[in-house]
Formats: sequence, structure tokens, C-alpha cells
Amino acid sequence: MKTLKIAVAGLGTVGAGLVKLLSDNAEIIALRAGRRIEVVAVSARDRNRDRGVAIPASVAWYDDAAKMADEAQCDVVVEVIGGSDGIARQVVENAIAKGRHVVTANKALLAHHGAALARAAEDKGVSLAFEAAVAGGIPIIKALKEGLAGNVISQVTGILNGTCNYILTTMRESGRDFADVLGEAQALGYAEADPSFDIDGIDAAHKLSILTSLAFGTPVDFASVHVEGIRHVSADDIRFADLLGYRIKLLGIARMTDHGIEQRVHPCMVPVKAPIATVDGVFNAVVAEGNFVGRSIYEGRGAGAGPTASAVAGDIIDIARGCRVPAFGVPAAALKAQGAASIDRRVGAYYMRLSVVDRPGVLAEVAAALRDEGVSVEQMIQPARSPADSVPMVMTLHDTEEAAMNRAVARISALDAVVEQPRIIRIEAL
Ligand SMILES: NC(=O)c1ccc[n+]([C@@H]2O[C@H](COP(=O)([O-])OP(=O)(O)OC[C@H]3O[C@@H](n4cnc5c(N)ncnc54)[C@H](OP(=O)(O)O)[C@@H]3O)[C@@H](O)[C@H]2O)c1
Repeated sequence: MKTLKIAVAGLGTVGAGLVKLLSDNAEIIALRAGRRIEVVAVSARDRNRDRGVAIPASVAWYDDAAKMADEAQCDVVVEVIGGSDGIARQVVENAIAKGRHVVTANKALLAHHGAALARAAEDKGVSLAFEAAVAGGIPIIKALKEGLAGNVISQVTGILNGTCNYILTTMRESGRDFADVLGEAQALGYAEADPSFDIDGIDAAHKLSILTSLAFGTPVDFASVHVEGIRHVSADDIRFADLLGYRIKLLGIARMTDHGIEQRVHPCMVPVKAPIATVDGVFNAVVAEGNFVGRSIYEGRGAGAGPTASAVAGDIIDIARGCRVPAFGVPAAALKAQGAASIDRRVGAYYMRLSVVDRPGVLAEVAAALRDEGVSVEQMIQPARSPADSVPMVMTLHDTEEAAMNRAVARISALDAVVEQPRIIRIEAL
């Protein structure tokens, strides 16, 4: 069979990793793909930068990646530049318009334009593949599109951001506070100089919106994801979680409910015995629930040159083999929007940490506010007394609707004895 010709737009962590993988593993890949795979063109901003990989002189260099997608003599364009719009979008659109297959690692692009790009690719009869966009080296896209295709999926849950998982894990292991651990993660290169995409939950929300589309056959709907990051998780919360038998994780949760699809990203307490609770450091994990398969769990490295290149290479090999699966598992025209469930309708347990003035009667006032909203207490921790100061009062609350919980919290924050905004973390029984 003819060699499959690849053009790579972007030669950073992922692009250079891919070039190395395709060269190091060329023989086994050719066997598996049934043909050789050759990089024929590349594009990046700085032609003279040392990228740690050998790029043969025969490979065409393009300063303009969009032009490369348009003009290079290739079958597949790999977009690994990044960003939801601009040059990355242009590269993908040009490649599709020219009838070339596209492989991308770009979750931001897919979260914002996934459905439209899938339609365009289908119209042109080309693949739009993006295994690397979610959970790096874990083949969760393939699992949902292929291995689990016989199931009705009810829920997908994941630790989708390695930076957040690293920070939360280090906070637990060291007892240090968020800001301190974030600073260290930046110094070590685990967190970006501007970490907001990661720590405010946006990156995880991009990935979740892609998983939701695959799980439920809906157009990607990033705007409906409820997003909270990890900035407010304190060392105290982590310590109390431990005492109560939980771990704190930033989870993305997509669930089919009676009132529509719930999509949310926020810190969660998960029972210490739940498999996902032990996924630590930069690792990612995804749990999928299907009506015949039951629960299946996937774990692995969510980022880095090797895992991400591995995912991109898998997509390229699929294309080389002639495997064609619709981008989001069903034909783009069949993607059907369903209503979005408001987070106010979430029913579940909650952790609440209050900072209260240590005087008689405070507990009764808090209990009354909870009772008035029909919220009942499951466990309570009130550490040592300190009459002159404020003290923490920690509770877990039985399953209740989020709207009732919010009303109870509003009442509690208005109490004179409550000196800080109550900290609430949802408890997920996984
Ligand atoms: N890094 C990961 O672990 C990881 C994991 C999963 C998904 N992803 C996704 O993969 C994509 C790439 O990430 P990355 O970490 O590899 O990024 P990166 O290291 O910052 O590399 C980006 C590359 O794009 C090139 N580039 C930027 N603007 C360009 C332009 N106008 N024309 C041509 N090339 C341009 C850069 O060129 P220069 O090198 O010359 O500056 C660089 O080579 C993103 O969508 C990211 O979200 C990354």
C-alpha cells in the first residue's frame, strides 16, 4: 500500500514527541498500519529552535501552517499548535476543505467548534480524530466510540487535569496550602506561568464537553458546563476530608438525568476506597458507566510528550488502516441537542466547613438553618474549643437538592456567629 503522508503543524511538546515516536517505532507501526507513515511537512514559528528530534532535510518546512494545510502533498494534517481559534482553527479548516484527514490534540478547538468541524469533515469524507485531546495517553475516545458502542452510557466521570491532580495530591501529602504548592508546581514546570486554564477548571471542562458529546450523541456544548476550579480548596479541607474518609479530586462529571444532561467540573470529595480516589499526581482517570458493561475504569498519564504522541499515533494508524468512525461516534447530522440540567437540580451529599465564633448556641442556630431547608446532618466535627477565636465547624450533609443547600448556606452565612463564607464541597459516591 501507498505510504501515508503526514504534515505536522506545531513542533512543541506534542509535535516533536510525535515526530520522535513515528521515527523510533517506524517498523512496528508500518506492520500494524499495513503501510509506512512518513512525515513530509512540518510547521512551527521558529525554524532554528532545537526541538530535540531530527527532522530530515527532505521534510518540507512551512512558516505558515495554514498554507501547509492547504498546499503540502499529504494525506493527513496533524494540528498540535493549540488554541480554540486563530491559526489552529485555520489549519484544521483548510485541511478538511482540501479533503485531508485531520488529527488534533486540541481540546479547546473541539470544545468550541467540535460539532461544526465534525460536519465539515463528514461532508468531505475525511476523518477528524482527537484521541490526544482528552486524558492524554488514555484511549478513552476510542473506548467510548468503539469498545463501549453497544451500550447506553449513563455517566462519565473523570480526573481530567493532571496539574490540578498533582496540586491536590501534593497538598494532601505535605499538608501545605494551595498557593504554596501551586508556586512549586510552576517552578517544576508542572503548571503554566498563567495557570488559570488548569486550576480554574476550564481545561477539564473542555475535555468533559467532548466526552459528553461522545457519551450521549449530542453536539459539544461547552457553554453548559458548570465550572469551578480548585483555588478555594484549603489545607484544612484536605485534612478534614481525610478525617471523614474522603479524598478531594477535581472531577468532570457528565450524567444523563430526567431533566437533561448534567455537565459539571468542580472539586469533589470521593470515598477513600473509590478507585478514582487513589489516582494521584499527574495521572488522569475516566470512569464510564454503560447499561450492559457496567462500570469500566481507565487510568494513565494525561499529558506529556510520550502519552500524547502515543494517542496521536493511534489516530494516524487508524487512518492508515482505513478505519473510519464518525468524529463523535454518530453521524454529525444525527448529533441531537438535549436540554442541559441545571446544577441546582443536583441531588447528593455535601461537606460544609464553617468558621464560627466559639460561643454557646451557635450549633443550634446552624442546625435550625439546615432544618428549615430540609437538610439533615450526617457527621460533624468540631475541634478543640477556643473561646476567644473563631473555630472550624465541619459537617457532612445527607443527600439534598443543590438549590436547598444553597438556601441553607445563604441563611448560615447571614448568622452573626459565622465569620467567613461557608466552604462547600460536593460529595460524590463513586
Ligand atoms: N503538552 C501536552 O501534554 C498536551 C497534552 C494533550 C493535549 N495537548 C494539546 O496539544 C496541543 C499542542 O500542545 P503543546 O504542549 O505541544 O504546545 P507547545 O509545546 O506550546 O507547542 C506549540 C507549537 O505550535 C507552534 N506554533 C505556535 N504558533 C504557531 C503558528 N502561528 N504557526 C505554526 N506553528 C505555531 C510552536 O512553534 P515554536 O516551537 O516555533 O514556538 C510550537 O512548536 C494543544 O492543543 C494542547 O492543548 C497538549
